[in-house]
Amino acid sequence: MSLKKISFLSLFPDSIQSGLSHSLVGKAQEQGKIKLAHINIRDFSKDKHRTVDDIVYGGGAGMLLKADVLFDAWNSIAAPVLEVTGKKPHTILLSPQGALLTQERAKHFATEHEELIIVCGHYEGVDERFIELCVDEEISIGNYVLTGGEFAAMVLSDVVIRLIPGVVGNQESISGDSLENGLLKAPQYTRPREFMGKTVPEVLLSGNHAAIEKWRKEISFERTRKKRPDLLK
Ligand code: ADE
Repeated sequence: MSLKKISFLSLFPDSIQSGLSHSLVGKAQEQGKIKLAHINIRDFSKDKHRTVDDIVYGGGAGMLLKADVLFDAWNSIAAPVLEVTGKKPHTILLSPQGALLTQERAKHFATEHEELIIVCGHYEGVDERFIELCVDEEISIGNYVLTGGEFAAMVLSDVVIRLIPGVVGNQESISGDSLENGLLKAPQYTRPREFMGKTVPEVLLSGNHAAIEKWRKEISFERTRKKRPDLLK
């Protein structure tokens, strides 16, 4: 199975749409390898002021996204899918409370689901009942707090779309990625052979593939030990 469609629920759908319109991810959409839908949560508000948020019961700073508005926005995508497939689409809420996004998790999203709904939180958060009713898992892109989930949605979908088979032309570039085997990538060089007195390591010019492979493995390990020792634990 591979991912075919992502629907984003957000207060700023234009920013996600334009953020994902370039480069490989833009091309993947043009080629029909992934379909993206951008839903504006505000279109589901219930009053003439287009309200989407409200104060926190019991007191507390800031405002929360309302459960009824979020549910209707979510249901506009989920209900038709449920009717056809008998299953609701896997739903991710972007939140600093979520599990950390890793290459491993991204691979899971790219290969274990045909359709995803990605919900971007805002303000102080979302009404817990929406999470209980509709959200399958919460994902965080790092241990810091963003103003909203839009940038996180772009990061998550960029990582995931890149892993859909056929999106990156050469599968070797994925298997050689940093982090793909728990190690950082070896340094790489292109022409010219010498630049500002610095030369390309001899072994890379040798044509000896076994020696090159061995050099890359050793240096990958060495770099990981120096720059990201946490990956070796
Ligand atoms: N929303 C706010 N902060 C976030 C984070 N670190 N990851 C995902 N969504 C967020």
